[in-house]
Amino acid sequence: MDKYIDLHLHLDGAVTPDIARKLAKMQNIALPEDEEELKKLLTVQEDCQSLTEFLKCFDLPLSLMQTAEGLREAVRLVADNIRSQGVIYAEIRFAPQLHTQKGMTQEDAVNAALEGLRKTELKANLILCLMRGEGNEEQNEETFRLAKKYLVEDGGVVALDLAGAEALFPTAGYKDIFKRVKEAGIPFTMHAGEAAGPESIKAALESGATRIGHGVRAYEDPEVVKLIKDKGIVLEMCPTSNRQTHAIPDMSKYPLVEYLNQGIKVTLNTDDMGIEGTTLAEEYRYMEKGFGLTIEQKKILLGNAIDAAFTTQEVKEQLRKTIV
Ligand code: ADE
Ligand code: ZN
Repeated sequence: MDKYIDLHLHLDGAVTPDIARKLAKMQNIALPEDEEELKKLLTVQEDCQSLTEFLKCFDLPLSLMQTAEGLREAVRLVADNIRSQGVIYAEIRFAPQLHTQKGMTQEDAVNAALEGLRKTELKANLILCLMRGEGNEEQNEETFRLAKKYLVEDGGVVALDLAGAEALFPTAGYKDIFKRVKEAGIPFTMHAGEAAGPESIKAALESGATRIGHGVRAYEDPEVVKLIKDKGIVLEMCPTSNRQTHAIPDMSKYPLVEYLNQGIKVTLNTDDMGIEGTTLAEEYRYMEKGFGLTIEQKKILLGNAIDAAFTTQEVKEQLRKTIV
């Protein structure tokens, strides 16, 4: 089996219908019995027009992760699932503030996810997401506090992220908090250049991000492309997600291979495999069949992912040995 590394995978977005059934059963939560109906609720519809619409699909998976048991088992099941598909290392991200609907604190949520991590054999780490939004400043501060408290170099919480509706809440509005994240020495990535343009990527770079979630729209401003290249910024690209959210107007011009050819440090990831109905293996096939990604380029993508992983040099060495 081919081996893969996923640096950009949202826990809630990685819940497949099968995992949803397991989580619902253990918590006595009712789900539609009909498979097609469940699939319809969990996966993005053909007519999805934007990231903002896409993000509405997360209500159901999130409702299954509002208890420590649900969240712990979700981490374990998602990790086991991707391991069975050839993933050898993953950074699983989630927003603790989205798991407090039934009384868990954000810290309970972090602890539950850490327990799930200990129960899987997949080599994986956690990234905590701050959320774009209005009126959730305190929640973001709490997530930041927890990242400081739980940060490790490997085997737990290794970084922060900024997720949510980029078109509604611009990246520039998060400069202050990420400046403090940087000062605290916490590694971080930020979603940018997905539902907003290159100015959003610029704002993320000004905040000190070294990895960018997506960054697909960089091509709209050659200066931003140059900045990404010159600074050695890593792009966490997720093509099926970008197609479904209409991140770019013409998918036949998807720039992943072009960015690679320009020497940008691109990685290939799933984003929300459950909602999208994809796997990382399928994303590779998509790029191979649709865009002529070569075996050599596949190796570069994997090498970039290892170099960019938020983990120790020892783990990276181990991963390098595993993929040859
Ligand atoms: N949360 C889950 N998927 C996301 C995406 N593609 N962009 C921003 N936030 C997300
Ligand atoms: Zn994402």
